[in-house]
Amino acid sequence: MEVIIQPTREEAGRVAAAIVARLVREKPDAVLGLATGSTPLGLYRELARMHHDEGLDFSAITTFNLDEYVGLAPDHPASYHTFMRKNLFDQINITEERIHIPNGSAQDIPAHCLAYEEAIIEAGGIDLQVLGIGSDGHIGFNEPTSSLASRTRIKTLTQATIDDNARFFANREDVPVHVITMGIGTIMDAGQCVVLAYGEAKAQAVAGMVEGPLTAIVPASILQMHPLVKVLLDEPAASALQKADYYRRVHDMKPEWQRE
Ligand code: F6R
Repeated sequence: MEVIIQPTREEAGRVAAAIVARLVREKPDAVLGLATGSTPLGLYRELARMHHDEGLDFSAITTFNLDEYVGLAPDHPASYHTFMRKNLFDQINITEERIHIPNGSAQDIPAHCLAYEEAIIEAGGIDLQVLGIGSDGHIGFNEPTSSLASRTRIKTLTQATIDDNARFFANREDVPVHVITMGIGTIMDAGQCVVLAYGEAKAQAVAGMVEGPLTAIVPASILQMHPLVKVLLDEPAASALQKADYYRRVHDMKPEWQRE
């Protein structure tokens, strides 16, 4: 894992955007895996700015989102469909048919999950997966003790995740208990992963992901087995890392050709 510690979340978001933009320029028909939540907002703002100011072209890009709440129609204000439209898709020139987000109102959820996996394969696989991390170490909505080999399926949220996400809903009771999420195996198949984490509340989960033992109790720790992961942190999110000085040194000493 390559850990990149930036002074602020704004700077970390810009580094993440530079990584995504490089791929989009080099491979205009790349397949992006996308996350929702508060963390990727700066990344999406910067990608939208690059589209407007620099003509970054998303017209041939295909996207697959990690997850969606079961029971929320796509036009529900708290759905991840609405989130993605508002925060990214309405701001760039993405082609409608190339957007994929699990359908929380699917009648046959297992069949829908299988079809989602098949669509990823048909698209040629995910080139770059953007990830946030839950304060309990989840990626996607693969909660602690999820199978490290899991595929897209229905999951039950922990109370901690429901509490964390209540801010997006009028009432805590409105947060759905079930979600559809890409599995950990699905995420691990991506060509590269870019994990973003900001704030002290994420520090323990980040330490578990980067330095802790590989364990299903911290699902993100499986990323230690992925050959190409960049972890972008602000200082508070990096505060529990034992080897932070080493990660800074690696970044400072990087040859020019390896830089973002
Ligand atoms: C969202 C997702 C989740 C979030 C995580 C962090 O699509 O898959 O794993 O990335 O819950 O959420 P925030 O960024 O709101 O702290």
